[in-house]
Parts: sequence; C-alpha cells; structure tokens
Amino acid sequence: MVIPDSFLQELSERNDIVDVVGGYVHLTKKSGANLFGLCPFHSEKTPSFSVNPDMQIYHCFGCGKGGDVINFIREMENLSFPEAVEFLARRAGMEMPTDGDGDLRQRRDRLLALNRAAARFFHQALIQPAGQPGRDYVARRGISPALVRRFGLGYAADNFYSLTNAMRAQGYTEAELVEAGLANANRGGKGVHDIFRDRLMFPVIDVRGNVIAFSGRILGDGEPKYLNTRDTPVFSKSRNLFGLNLAKKSKSGYLLLAEGNIDVVSLHQAGFDSAVASLGTSLTPEQARLMSRYTGEIILAYDNDAAGQKASARAIGILEKLDLKVRVLRLEGAKDPDEFIQARGSGAFRQLLEGSANHVEFLLDGVARGRDLSVDAEKAAYLREAAGIVAALPSPVEREVYAMRLSEQTGVAKSVVLEEVRRLRRRQAKGAETRRDREAVRSLRETVQPRDRALRYENERSAIAEEGVVRLMYLDPSLFGGAGRSIEPEEFSSPLLGRFYGVLRDKAAAGGSLSMASLSGSFTPEEIDHLTGILLKPEVLANGRQALADYIAVIREERQLQNAADDLLAFAAQKRKQLQAQR
Ligand code: UTP
Ligand code: MN
Repeated sequence: MVIPDSFLQELSERNDIVDVVGGYVHLTKKSGANLFGLCPFHSEKTPSFSVNPDMQIYHCFGCGKGGDVINFIREMENLSFPEAVEFLARRAGMEMPTDGDGDLRQRRDRLLALNRAAARFFHQALIQPAGQPGRDYVARRGISPALVRRFGLGYAADNFYSLTNAMRAQGYTEAELVEAGLANANRGGKGVHDIFRDRLMFPVIDVRGNVIAFSGRILGDGEPKYLNTRDTPVFSKSRNLFGLNLAKKSKSGYLLLAEGNIDVVSLHQAGFDSAVASLGTSLTPEQARLMSRYTGEIILAYDNDAAGQKASARAIGILEKLDLKVRVLRLEGAKDPDEFIQARGSGAFRQLLEGSANHVEFLLDGVARGRDLSVDAEKAAYLREAAGIVAALPSPVEREVYAMRLSEQTGVAKSVVLEEVRRLRRRQAKGAETRRDREAVRSLRETVQPRDRALRYENERSAIAEEGVVRLMYLDPSLFGGAGRSIEPEEFSSPLLGRFYGVLRDKAAAGGSLSMASLSGSFTPEEIDHLTGILLKPEVLANGRQALADYIAVIREERQLQNAADDLLAFAAQKRKQLQAQR
C-alpha cells in the first residue's frame, strides 16, 4: 500500500501547514521566519512550538516533536499514516490515488468489514454448542452473558481453519486475512491458517465503533497468555485503548486505567463503566492524549505488584504532562482490580475509589512500604524521607495538611514535623540555586544534543557544523560541489547526521523532492523529530557558500584532532603492552 511521492508532494502543497496547524493552534509572528504558538502536544505557558511556512515543517523546542503537515495531523487526530493522508486529501478535495489493489480507502473498508465479520463469527462460536470450552472459561471468570454481549466476546475454536474457511466463504481473500492479522501463510507457501485458536476473544473497538483488532486469552496455562493482533493498516497498538468505545460514554467524569482486558470487563460488570486498558503495552503518550479528549481525570488501577507500581509511576509522568489530574488506587490484598472485585465486591471497590490517593499519597505510601513504623529507627527514617516529599509541595496549605497527616500517622508532634519540613525546604531552596547554575550550563549543551539519548553526539563542535551542512543541503543543494564545498557522509562524526546528509544529497541528486513525507520512509519518527529541530535553527543563507566551506573546515579539523588523539591512545596502549611483556 504505497502512496506515490508525487501524490504526497501535491497533498502537502495543497494543505499549507500554517492553515492546517492554525486550525488547532493560535499562531503569532514574533520575528524571523517562524510562527509561534502554544504546543498542542505538551502543556506549556510560553510558546515553544514553531512553524516554518517556507519549509512547511513544525517543531516544538519544548517537547521535541516535529514533522510536516501529515505528521501533524497524525499526531493531532490520532491517525495512522494512510488515514492522515486521507484526512488531508479530503480537506483539499483531492481524490485518493489507486494502486494495483484498488482504492486505499476501499481496502481499509474491506479490512474493517472483515474484522467485523470475524468478531461476529467468534461471538456466534461462543454461543453455539461447540463453544462449550469458551463458555466454561467465561463462567469460571465470573463474566455474565450480558457482559459477553456488551463486549462482543467470542471464542476461537481449537482448529487451524475455522475462521479462514468461514471468511473465505463470505468472499474474503487469503491476502486480506493475512493483512488483517487474522491468518498466517502456511509453511511451504500454499494457503493460510488461523492465528487465534482455542482462545477467548476480546474484539478491540475504536471510538468510531470499528472492530480494529483482537486480543485472545488462552483458556488454560500456556504462552503467550494473551495474543494481540499485530499492527495492521487499520490498527496501531500504541494509539488505541481496550474498552474506550464503551468508556467514552460514561458519565463518571474520569477514566479508570487498568492493565488487563479481564480487569476492564470485570470493572464494567461491577458498574464502573469508565474502565479502559492499554493493549499489552505500558501507557504511550498517544494513548494518554487520546484519553485526554474524553476526560480531565485518570484513576490508575494497575496491578498491585512491583511491575504495576513502576508502570503507575511512568504513567503519572506521561499523564501530568498533559495536565490531566491523576489519582492512584491501592488494591490492598488483591493482585488486580478483577481479583479485588471478585473477592470483596463492588462496594469495596467504590470505597477504594472514593478514598483513592492523589499522587502525593501514592509517593508517601511508597516511602512507607516495607518499613515497620512501630520500630523507632524505621519510623524516623520514614519521617525524614516523607518530610522531604512534603517539603517539595508548592502550596503551603498542602504542606500543612500533609504535615498534619504525618504527625497523626507517626505520633510525632505536628510542630516537630513542620519544623523538619521547613528545614528541608530551606535546604531544597539552596540546592535549587546551585542546581540552577549547573542547569544553565547544561541547557546550553542540551540545545545542541538530541533529546533522544540513543542519538547523542560524541563531538559537539563537529556536530554543530554537521547540522549546518544538513540544513544547507535541505535549503539549497546548489551550494554544494564547488571547491572546498563537497564532503562525504562518512566524514561526519555523528552517524545519524551523516545519514541525514547522505539521504538528502541522494534525493537532491536524483531530482526528487526533499519534503518530510518523502523522507519518512528513511527515518524513524524520533529521527524526524530531531531533523525538524535542526532545520528550524537559524541559518543565514545570504553567504551560504562561505558558511558551507566553514562548516566543512570545522568537521575536517575535528576529525584530524580525533585521529591524532586516537593515534596517541593506540601508541600509549602499545607501550603499555610492551612494558608488561618486558616484565
Ligand atoms: P496480566 O498478565 O496482568 O493479565 O496482563 P490479567 O488481566 O491479569 O490476565 P488474567 O486475569 O490472568 O486473564 C495484563 C495485560 O497485558 C497484556 C494483555 O493485554 C493483558 O490483559 N498481555 C499479557 C499481553 O499482551 N500478552 C501476554 O502474554 C500477557
Ligand atoms: Mn487478572
């Protein structure tokens, strides 16, 4: 399903990034070429989100996201690449291109229809006599027939061809079954077989009501416990949540985020109709953004084990960036919400919800864990650490409230607790001062270094010059080629920058477009984020030839220095070896 470059090119031309972004973000002109606004992808008070009309790209210097108009719509509307292309095509009144297999849109519609037919087939199979193993399992997990219907649960028979045969009879091809992630090719290459066998099937339904994937639980023991549809043209695991199709209609005012599918079903059955789960991944920023469209408050109900605690802490970080209110449930005496409800009932869960801790309490509980507060030494250690958390709270009222709580909990006088909090607060303030100095130096370097740690530069001076070369290649390839104005990607100190340069140069040489869309096949989304940041740094094109020659000179100088240093090290190593040998 390849969309031709020429189509993407026209699509970008007919969807000016300033117009499209302007529909979501209030953009103002400050100075220079860029427009600025408040970033829609993270919460901020001063604008660091910039759009460049000439290059038709955006980049946020706060959160690091960047790309072209297609990227922007993908992120903003939570769409797959082909969906975003379709969205923009419709906006510009363009016909989607057709390839050998027919219209893109039609093919996606076919896959969605196939998924729906498969969901119906699995559901029927669970109800019919042959579905006994599935029904037994459902009964064992305490799921009522009403909930089976509400979630459209189903059963995949213990057979390699049940679904494939049924869907073929309905006119779907083997290729479509494979593309939908429902079948795999047989070994030897002839025919296909079912992927889901002898499993309880949970259809994954998006907020528009489309069946986009399945999650199948094994009925007994075995691996993998859950099998999920791989990513397909209609399904992206990191951009969807199980149960959101139902939870989005809840009147509760919050979303309950659990780990497991069974937890979600169990919670809905107990009357908590706003439960969702991420699909076998830890929470992604895309999933968080999706939730933020439906609510301002998330209650975390992750598993009550070390992994769940860690996942909660991570999720808190992601959710707070979006200005979502977060609370955390503590499931005492049960491993997950399902077990809690089965053991103690929905009333107990309701109580838990009403008393659920905000994230300060979650942190304090974390400090108390594993400590015996009836032992004086442990109590003192707890108090010191807890006072540190309270001292860091910005609001004096909050500090007062939690100091009181600590005092009640430990039996230490409130005045003593408050004094400790004040002392720690003064110390934190002093620490913050020296930290600010250090931060200033660090942030200078941070503007040079890529946000993604995996992409970090070894040699910052050379990297700055290499970025300049990449920028000039993007802005004006005709600058290259004169005396002192050609360089090879292998000469770059940063492999990533060398790759940016190499790909841009090849595309320019072939007369192709240098649009982001045409580059997205060659780089990961994180790499594109970084590339847009490089392109949006100021560059004076007036004397481009000289600038390019200067950049190249710096790169070669640094390379020589590096080589000399390497030689010296090699020499020293050899000497050491010789000395050792003599001894
Ligand atoms: P858990 O192992 O906690 O599942 O995985 P659970 O909900 O408690 O399962 P039950 O109660 O034994 O049925 C939580 C979630 O992680 C994903 C699934 O989405 C599951 O619901 N997961 C787990 C997988 O994707 N694959 C696996 O093999 C296991
Ligand atoms: Mn469970």
